[in-house]
Amino acid sequence: MNQAFLPASKVSISQAIFGTSRLGGTVQQYDKRASLEILNKAFESGTTTFDTANIYAQGNSEKLLGVAMKSHREKVILATKGGYAFSSRGRFLTVIKPMVRKLIGSRPGLVRAAGKVRGGQMKQDFSRAGLTRSLDESLKRLKSDYVDIYQLHSPDEETLKRGEVFEILSDFRKEGKIRAGGVSLLSWEHLTHCYGKGVDFAQLEADFLSGVDRTRALQIAAENGVLVAARQAFGSGLMAMDSGDWSVEQFGGDPKRLALAKVRMSRVREIGDPFKVILKYLLNGSEFPAFLFATTNLRHLERNLEIMGEDFPSPEEVAIVRSALRATE
Ligand SMILES: NC(=O)c1ccc[n+]([C@@H]2O[C@H](COP(=O)([O-])OP(=O)(O)OC[C@H]3O[C@@H](n4cnc5c(N)ncnc54)[C@H](OP(=O)(O)O)[C@@H]3O)[C@@H](O)[C@H]2O)c1
Repeated sequence: MNQAFLPASKVSISQAIFGTSRLGGTVQQYDKRASLEILNKAFESGTTTFDTANIYAQGNSEKLLGVAMKSHREKVILATKGGYAFSSRGRFLTVIKPMVRKLIGSRPGLVRAAGKVRGGQMKQDFSRAGLTRSLDESLKRLKSDYVDIYQLHSPDEETLKRGEVFEILSDFRKEGKIRAGGVSLLSWEHLTHCYGKGVDFAQLEADFLSGVDRTRALQIAAENGVLVAARQAFGSGLMAMDSGDWSVEQFGGDPKRLALAKVRMSRVREIGDPFKVILKYLLNGSEFPAFLFATTNLRHLERNLEIMGEDFPSPEEVAIVRSALRATE
């Protein structure tokens, strides 16, 4: 597995980062042993960097990583996030989650309703006290006394412009609680606010299906010492669906984006299995120096890892994929 370096902190990350937002269950049942198997398999296959957040699966995602990585902590790069906090009602719901799980089972209607209730229990808090509390709680769940990359979770533009959050990250670094400061951004337009602030990692939605070419933005970020990783590279699962089943809501309510995504998806399918096409492109030829990928399914993981172990595509193949992902008609 290729490595990528964070320029200021010198933290070395695997080019492929395993995203764990879907691991650990929300209110649905989940299989702890299967989740641990997935994390261990990813690590053994060279994906040594894991992305999580304090709120994923209401803390369960971090707890799973803490258990899975404890015996080889120094060989793993843990990237977590802070900035969202559960209200006291949300914390109470976390405590009663095991009971709620039994009640809900896997009934889709109840699962959706529970997701909405859960979402309503979260608020953002980027204050020094809030972030300090959040980081300390993450460290406990991760069973570690440091986090490799600590990211601000979807800060709004005003928070970034004010800049106090960057001083807080810098202080966490000085205290040895984190090795690198990062930001998980809501918008590509926010990237410039992170330059010269001691942050050397950012993640942003790749949006290969309906977005624009980010090559120049990534070059500028690199010149400013920020490594940007592509997230939701499989379109958050859209690539596993028949594009006829996509809805306009999945594209921000914009019918043009939906139409564009259908064009690109059909071009990608002409090349091959979308997961294979995207993974090989990301590993060798994409404009992104690193990327996140995620799965909750061991067979999918094994397939993805198998693809990542295959020969690199030729420059000609890379060019074909690039042109499919930039197609406009
Ligand atoms: N604001 C933020 O900070 C933010 C927001 C979004 C995401 N993220 C990070 O980015 C990570 C990735 O996001 P994501 O999960 O939304 O996007 P993703 O990686 O684009 O998509 C994951 C989806 O692809 C499916 N999949 C993966 N491999 C497959 C295969 N071989 N065959 C069929 N289906 C396959 C998975 O389904 P199965 O589980 O069934 O395999 C899952 O539904 C998250 O875990 C999180 O770490 C951060």
